[in-house]
Amino acid sequence: MIVKGVLSTDHPVQAQIIPMRRCNLSCTYCNEYDEISDPVPVEEMYRRIDKLAALGTTLIVISGGEPLLHPQLDEVIARIRSHGMIAGLITNGYLLVPERIQRLNRAGLDHLQISVDNVQPDDVSLKSLKVLDKKLQWLKEHAIFHVNINSVIGAGVKNQGDALTVAKRAVELGFSSTVGIIHDGSGQLRRLAPDAQAVFQETRKLGKRSYSRLNGFQINIAEGRPNQWRCRAGARFLYICEHGLVHYCSQQRGFPGIGVHANLSGANMCSPHT
Ligand SMILES: C[S@@+](CC[C@H](N)C(=O)[O-])C[C@H]1O[C@@H](n2cnc3c(N)ncnc32)[C@H](O)[C@@H]1O
Ligand code: SF4
Repeated sequence: MIVKGVLSTDHPVQAQIIPMRRCNLSCTYCNEYDEISDPVPVEEMYRRIDKLAALGTTLIVISGGEPLLHPQLDEVIARIRSHGMIAGLITNGYLLVPERIQRLNRAGLDHLQISVDNVQPDDVSLKSLKVLDKKLQWLKEHAIFHVNINSVIGAGVKNQGDALTVAKRAVELGFSSTVGIIHDGSGQLRRLAPDAQAVFQETRKLGKRSYSRLNGFQINIAEGRPNQWRCRAGARFLYICEHGLVHYCSQQRGFPGIGVHANLSGANMCSPHT
């Protein structure tokens, strides 16, 4: 994926799609869910996936809301794979049971990210090791796809050290792990406090198999240093919301807000600064 991304610059590398905005949880740091919406009809999801394939997209990540609530999620995954694109899924894991994991295997899922935020559930997040550890064991036993455990750190998190406990559990189970720094409603991140920075460094050392070790961008943010960078959102990364509109990212919804079925090429989707 990285080689293709470097050699050919006229196609999206990653697109995130949202088949289901509704969520069965309500983490207080999150602005990406609602409690009422219906699943996007599967035929509509097919049209969006086919369009992304025609644009040359390498990887499609299914997110939400909670994507496992979508009744035809397996068909959505299979459609992505039918085009030869890589299929990823981000989930809170609450609905995972052995039979559901085996169905994801059969659909052809390549990569699953399960979010585990803390050791014990609290009023910020119910995505705890206490609740999800059994799901992690089932994933270890049944999944034939890659599993990554993502935790969060930073503003609003009660016990910053929990991210380290979660990352250690990931290593024990043979999974990779990442840590996301909590951002605000416009996608901005604040420098981590010293205790959180120490935890962040420790989790990075553990994550031998994870992408976080390559993520110098995030290290700079954690330590409050500026990054020399160009945002490629809208060009190499697309975020397609439940209404089929393309946005720069989950925190920049409304920009540019163009329909994915509009007659676009990868090139003219770029904003002037990409
Ligand atoms: C929006 S959720 C959707 C998928 C699924 N419901 C889940 O929680 O994994 C995708 C990921 O975004 C993370 N996330 C949500 N809001 C965030 C924020 N304000 N800062 C950092 N990560 C956030 C979640 O922890 C999760 O790992
Ligand atoms: S489980 Fe995921 S989508 Fe639902 S509220 Fe938490 S972070 Fe947001």
